[in-house]
Amino acid sequence: MSLSGRYFVETYGCQMNEHDSEKICTLMENLGLEPGNSVDQSDVIIINTCAIREKAEHKVYSSLGKLKEAKRKNPDLVIVVAGCVAQQQKDELTRKFRHLDLVLGTHHISDLPDLVERIRNSRERLTKVDFIDDIPSLHMVAPGRGPRPICSYVTIMQGCSNFCAYCVVPYTRGKEQSRSSEEILQEVSQLCYSGIKEITLLGQNVNAYGKDCGRMNGFTDLLEKLSQIPGLERIRFTTSHPRDFDSSLANAIGALDRVCEHVHLPLQSGSDRVLHLMRRGYTFSDYAQKIDILRSKVPGCSITTDMIVGFPGESDEDFEATLAALERIRFDQIFSFKFSPRPGTAAEHMSDQVPDEIKRERLAQVHAIQDKITEVYHQEIEGSVVEVLLEGCGRLENQFFGRTRSNKIVNFSNSQNHKIGDAVEVKILRGLKHSLLGRAV
Ligand code: 5AD
Ligand code: SF4
Repeated sequence: MSLSGRYFVETYGCQMNEHDSEKICTLMENLGLEPGNSVDQSDVIIINTCAIREKAEHKVYSSLGKLKEAKRKNPDLVIVVAGCVAQQQKDELTRKFRHLDLVLGTHHISDLPDLVERIRNSRERLTKVDFIDDIPSLHMVAPGRGPRPICSYVTIMQGCSNFCAYCVVPYTRGKEQSRSSEEILQEVSQLCYSGIKEITLLGQNVNAYGKDCGRMNGFTDLLEKLSQIPGLERIRFTTSHPRDFDSSLANAIGALDRVCEHVHLPLQSGSDRVLHLMRRGYTFSDYAQKIDILRSKVPGCSITTDMIVGFPGESDEDFEATLAALERIRFDQIFSFKFSPRPGTAAEHMSDQVPDEIKRERLAQVHAIQDKITEVYHQEIEGSVVEVLLEGCGRLENQFFGRTRSNKIVNFSNSQNHKIGDAVEVKILRGLKHSLLGRAV
């Protein structure tokens, strides 16, 4: 099977989506298509969508609207919507957008080449959104590509069975399904053989890895096995769920040299009342205890989180608890969002929805507190020497960038002829708001 022409992928959303887009690129290239630089130049356009918040969903409609003219000019153009919006809206999308050819659900990435060919031959308009038990794309090998040449994502599980009250993911990605550890180990070995030095293991809830297949300690076992692979220098993972995070994982991070000292552990709210309404399965004090254990086992471990403001019924007092949580935990960095009601979730029609104006004010307060905390962390690193994995060149001559083990971005000058993939000792000269500045020593 081979086609000619160019393809273009537009991606919205999380790392999982970025990685799905990498897989889509590989499939398109295997089909004989070349990457296009823009929509105008392309014969197949794939919009890989995110439905986590309303804003992301709206961006997709705006992109699709713009493609109407492109399709008018070139009726042979194939337009595909993939990802979470595709899964959620199903053939509603093809009804709304007459120029759309294919709605591709989250379990069907690997069907894309066949479907594109079918559409090219027959001009049918198709929707493929059923959920399946053993998702073929879960087994697709990471292409080892992407913007960071020595780093690769590796999917270890797909879906989520948690049904947090605000979240659309269990509906758009289906139940938790773990990939076999043999397959993951083989893939990572191949990636390292081809020069990859850092991997990020992806799953909605990596702490639950293997539980759907009845395996306990699946995730820590996997980290131990990955640590044996020659050439692999750094192992990262995201996302963890606080309920499933335990001291055995903290021990593994402390004991395994290649596992980086960074945990992304979404707290979502500092109020126990709101956490209960969100169906998160822990209290703030459970969370804080886990952080204390992590910090005792892995001193200096970087901790990042996600926070939602304006969940239905969030009172001033609840919100104060969120601000207090930021001060108590002192996260290295946070990702914070205004609650966005998502169709089909438990929180969509909850009473006491918080007005947007208040959500905006609360978000600004969260940013103000966190920005100061992050800046202090960055300033505390000034003067110290850290290991940076050199990932690429900056805009100026002799300027490079990379990340610390704790996932902080460092821009640095390089007088030692280091190259991409080297672990470089860098003296931090200045801690800025979002990054660090340094010099190779
Ligand atoms: N509204 C706002 N933020 C949300 N998130 C998930 N669903 C919603 C929603 N409906 C956030 C959570 C999650 C992150 C990926 O996105 O904080 O951890
Ligand atoms: Fe969504 Fe909760 Fe699953 Fe995370 S754990 S993907 S927030 S349902």
